[in-house]
Amino acid sequence: MPNTIVIFGASGDLTSRKLVPALFSLGRKDRLPPATRIVGFARTKMSHDEWRKELTETTQKFAGKEWDAVAWQEFAGSIYYHPGDIGKPDDFKALAKLLDELEQGRQSTRLYYLSTAPQLYEAAVNRLGQSGLADESNGPRRVIIEKPFGTDLASAQHLNECVHKVFSEQQVYRIDHYLGKETVQNMLVLRFANSIFEPVWNRRYVDHVQITTAEEVTIGHRAGYYDKSGVLRDMFQNHLLQLLCVTAMESPVRYQADAVRDEKVKVLSAIHPMTADEVARNTIRGQYRGYTDEPDVPKDSQTATFAAMRLEVQNWRWQGVPFYLRSGKAMSCRTTQIVIQFHEPPHLLFPGGPRGIQEGNRLVVQVQPAEGIQLHFQTKVPDAGMKLRLSDLDFSFQREFHGVMPEAYQRLLLDALSGDASLFARADEVETAWGIIDPILKTWQERREPKLYEYEPGFWGPEESTAWMQSHGRQWFDTCPVLS
Ligand code: BG6
Repeated sequence: MPNTIVIFGASGDLTSRKLVPALFSLGRKDRLPPATRIVGFARTKMSHDEWRKELTETTQKFAGKEWDAVAWQEFAGSIYYHPGDIGKPDDFKALAKLLDELEQGRQSTRLYYLSTAPQLYEAAVNRLGQSGLADESNGPRRVIIEKPFGTDLASAQHLNECVHKVFSEQQVYRIDHYLGKETVQNMLVLRFANSIFEPVWNRRYVDHVQITTAEEVTIGHRAGYYDKSGVLRDMFQNHLLQLLCVTAMESPVRYQADAVRDEKVKVLSAIHPMTADEVARNTIRGQYRGYTDEPDVPKDSQTATFAAMRLEVQNWRWQGVPFYLRSGKAMSCRTTQIVIQFHEPPHLLFPGGPRGIQEGNRLVVQVQPAEGIQLHFQTKVPDAGMKLRLSDLDFSFQREFHGVMPEAYQRLLLDALSGDASLFARADEVETAWGIIDPILKTWQERREPKLYEYEPGFWGPEESTAWMQSHGRQWFDTCPVLS
């Protein structure tokens, strides 16, 4: 069946940087279903050809090694543009007319991608409903909704209600691009397609888990969005909690959207929302020095650009195992890692390390960059008595598979086209995640606890974060990508 992808917010950054390059790369690899066309919708007045010309330049820039001028010429022929305003019903009527003309009345799958400012999601969905564009009598109609999905639990619930008045849940694809990353999907493969990890993947063997998403970049020119959002809404409610889910979830009964999402919702439901006192004790927040000098950031901004927190997944598998989550801008390097820290050996047979103990094993899943996995284990140092040292075993995607790792959006767009929602968040998943984040936001805002610490760019966040972790008898795994 032919496909039409309608991108609302077509003149935005995401469209030119990620969506169109991802679709072009899929086209080049012959992965796009035949007769797939793209229609851009935005307020700027432009013709089809003007948009094609603009996209030629941006795609050349962002498609990297996948760029091919000849292939682009062919691909560009299936790109169209429709100037319109989400606030104007007539513009949707005109869009409906254009779509009917392009599809010539044939059954087609339509994907409406909301890549607009988040405050326009509700209006866009309403207009799609009012203009009959959600009606499925001429083929499947799906809507992809970008993050952020709401700014707190109440707004997410409200948005879900609005969306459900027009689309059934099966038609809705809430995107979290972290789920499209190969290494995040590989976490499911590592855990559920191997039999050697699962037996030790629990409270008996795991001391704690650390999930870090560090970014070297600052907020740049994104103050308009970032200063209202901050690190909790920007990274924790979605990406970090998703990483926690794939680390902690039980095996779904089958690899099918609802079975996978049921297991993730169970994990999120097992994390009890913190009281204000717990927030003060179990979270750390920071702001990088120079943040308030960034363009458009208010001088007295209290927005956190770094956070760390300790969460507990209260179920049989994980009772008593802390999950430490941390993320920040202006950090030491760009790295996303999931570290499974195993217990120290129960009995000291050989001379220990500096603390008189043998360090436990560690499994480091390097989500990005230099994607791969590293296992840390003790070995005997040759010709040195019974001296031990922590050594490692590596698996690198690059070394093993040689090719370029595809952009997350490629997989997600393809899945949405084929109607597979396994890697998209369901309504209850998003709301349960907000239920965890809301009390933290509230305590930070209302009680101003814990204190907002300043940190020097280029390190691992505020020093207090290191001291806080030590007060738990543990250390952050402050290591830039373990593989090169
Ligand atoms: C986005 C955030 O969702 O994820 C950004 O809004 C962040 O602030 C980005 O930089 C990180 O994504 P990635 O794929 O580069 O790790």
